[in-house]
Amino acid sequence: MLQNKVALVTGASRGIGREIAITLAGQGATVIVNYQGSKEKAEDVVSFIKENGGCAESFGCDVSNFELCAEMIGQIIEKYGRLDVLVNNAGITRDGLLMKMSEEDFSKVIDVNLKGAFNTIRHASRYFLKQRSGSIINISSVSGVSGNAGQANYSAAKAGIIGLTKSVAKELGSRGITVNAIAPGFIETDMTDAMPEKAKEAVKSQITLGRIGTPADIAGVAAFLASDAASYITGQVISVDGGMVF
Ligand SMILES: NC(=O)c1ccc[n+]([C@@H]2O[C@H](COP(=O)([O-])OP(=O)(O)OC[C@H]3O[C@@H](n4cnc5c(N)ncnc54)[C@H](OP(=O)(O)O)[C@@H]3O)[C@@H](O)[C@H]2O)c1
Repeated sequence: MLQNKVALVTGASRGIGREIAITLAGQGATVIVNYQGSKEKAEDVVSFIKENGGCAESFGCDVSNFELCAEMIGQIIEKYGRLDVLVNNAGITRDGLLMKMSEEDFSKVIDVNLKGAFNTIRHASRYFLKQRSGSIINISSVSGVSGNAGQANYSAAKAGIIGLTKSVAKELGSRGITVNAIAPGFIETDMTDAMPEKAKEAVKSQITLGRIGTPADIAGVAAFLASDAASYITGQVISVDGGMVF
């Protein structure tokens, strides 16, 4: 259980982040629901959590902006006096084959998906170090583990998340701070919704368990990693992909 813990979930207005926020709150954590543009959707998540007896507030912040992340973490510490769980979930795609990929599409995906996680960790870690505790959970992807044609930018960012996770785990471990990554497979959200049915069927055929994943499949693992039950796990990448890659 996560009573008395304060958690920041980035990109929690929709999809996987939304479900992680709701699950952490359901286990007793006070949750900061971060979003970039979807203020109303983030407010809906907050209302849902409150209606179910939990504590939450929304916080708009573009995680690719270093200074804004400093402000967000600073305000959380000022209000709650602590931060226990940081889930770096915010992510975007700008898919396309490498030969046609613009510099902008490459940079944008790296800025949000990889630098965004650096930004929040960079600012939160000083408080984690003072507290001598904290759980950092970074959302990578099966694409970062094994690569994916048409996603050179996204795969590079998600592989970078794995390197970031392992390095920061080594830097912060002696102070009782755990840093782990989750590598989801194909999960039903807005991100994957746009894919043609035929392409979805093709992906499904690669999944050992024979079904597309749900945000709840990821949220349960995130809640476990945030809990004291996972306090001896760090530097790990946990694949939650129905057996797509092993
Ligand atoms: N779905 C999958 O199959 C899958 C598989 C592997 C990994 N993942 C990873 O899981 C994470 C969540 O994916 P999802 O499928 O739930 O995506 P999604 O439904 O598209 O939701 C993305 C979330 O990220 C937020 N976001 C985007 N850019 C942001 C920024 N610059 N600053 C702050 N928040 C930002 C969005 O906020 P707004 O609503 O305000 O735009 C939204 O809450 C991502 O890191 C993704 O790469 C997903």
